[in-house]
Amino acid sequence: MRYKQLGASGIEVSVIGLGCWSFGGGAYWGAQSQRDADAVVAAAIERGVNFFDTAEVYNDGESERSLGRALKGRRDKVALASKISTSHAGDVRKYLEASLARLGTDYLDVYILHWPINATALAHFAGGEGAAGQTPQVADVFHQFAALQKEGLIRSIGLSNFGVAQMAEVAATGVRVDSNQLAYNIVSRAIEKEIAPHCVANRIAVTGSVGLQQGLLTGKYARPEDVPPPQAHSRHFSQERGGKESRHGEEGAEKELFEAVDCVKAISAETGLSCAQISLAWILQKPFMASTLAGCRSVAQLDANLAALDVVLSDEIMARIDAASLPVWQKLGDSPDYYENRAKSRIF
Ligand SMILES: NC(=O)c1ccc[n+]([C@@H]2O[C@H](COP(=O)([O-])OP(=O)(O)OC[C@H]3O[C@@H](n4cnc5c(N)ncnc54)[C@H](OP(=O)(O)O)[C@@H]3O)[C@@H](O)[C@H]2O)c1
Repeated sequence: MRYKQLGASGIEVSVIGLGCWSFGGGAYWGAQSQRDADAVVAAAIERGVNFFDTAEVYNDGESERSLGRALKGRRDKVALASKISTSHAGDVRKYLEASLARLGTDYLDVYILHWPINATALAHFAGGEGAAGQTPQVADVFHQFAALQKEGLIRSIGLSNFGVAQMAEVAATGVRVDSNQLAYNIVSRAIEKEIAPHCVANRIAVTGSVGLQQGLLTGKYARPEDVPPPQAHSRHFSQERGGKESRHGEEGAEKELFEAVDCVKAISAETGLSCAQISLAWILQKPFMASTLAGCRSVAQLDANLAALDVVLSDEIMARIDAASLPVWQKLGDSPDYYENRAKSRIF
């Protein structure tokens, strides 16, 4: 395993981290047994993975509960990250304490504001009903985080889905943040333009979410029709494809998307590497990335994904993938919010 620094926090995280959204099971990912979660966590730690990511919103707290159970007796071996929903940012202590209780720990290594504070994000976390109560103020929220850090309840403060202007607003509060978790993979490259360079310049670690575009980049889907609706609710797919989760109202970039996947499959056939290996290795070779998260539902998936660590893609292959993925980026535009349409983007 290789490790990188999380900003200036002094925390070292494995370059592949475990995304635990599916833990606990739920409507988005379907059933996930505790036995499999236990096995994945044990195997991940054994193979050197120390970065584990969850959120209070994942499966209504069941992801945190399940991860807490799986980490029992091993808490000191990991860098544990969880996220507070934007709609809860008015009372950070209350929701942190609830997360700690579900996780069975007394501190987090990274506590993350899940989405920036704006009306669309507040409405989303409040179930689309519109934000209840007052809009929390950025300075107040981050000073709450800082106080909890001072008390030792959190070791570092993290952002998630923050754009350049939003990071500048946080910096103006005087509170130091050490990471920004952002969607990044072969078919989700918008952060390359401004957000990732800004993070690097300000020593904010970029940690990537959806490293496999929710399974698509493993090559297991031949056509858009094969992708389960929840995993097709991003702007990569047409509004209709994503079922009730889908809210962007855009036509998607399905043709370009599957052409990019075909490129990864062709490289897989030529090299004997798996699509998952190629896709994650491509991320790891981007110098601005500190760590990428991959959701693994079984030890077999974990091992398939960790095999990316054994691979160095040639400059020629990197350039081929970059070229094949460019049409997706061009069609989806520079908005790194892959769930809301460009007019309602929550990231700026
Ligand atoms: N901050 C944010 O807003 C945000 C947003 C999204 C995610 N995240 C974080 O990022 C983590 C990773 O993203 P993600 O879990 O959404 O998506 P992902 O890592 O791109 O994909 C994970 C899914 O792909 C499938 N998969 C994984 N490895 C595979 C393999 N080797 N072969 C075949 N299928 C495989 C599994 O689902 P199936 O077996 O069901 O296909 C797995 O649940 C999350 O768990 C979460 O911690 C954060």
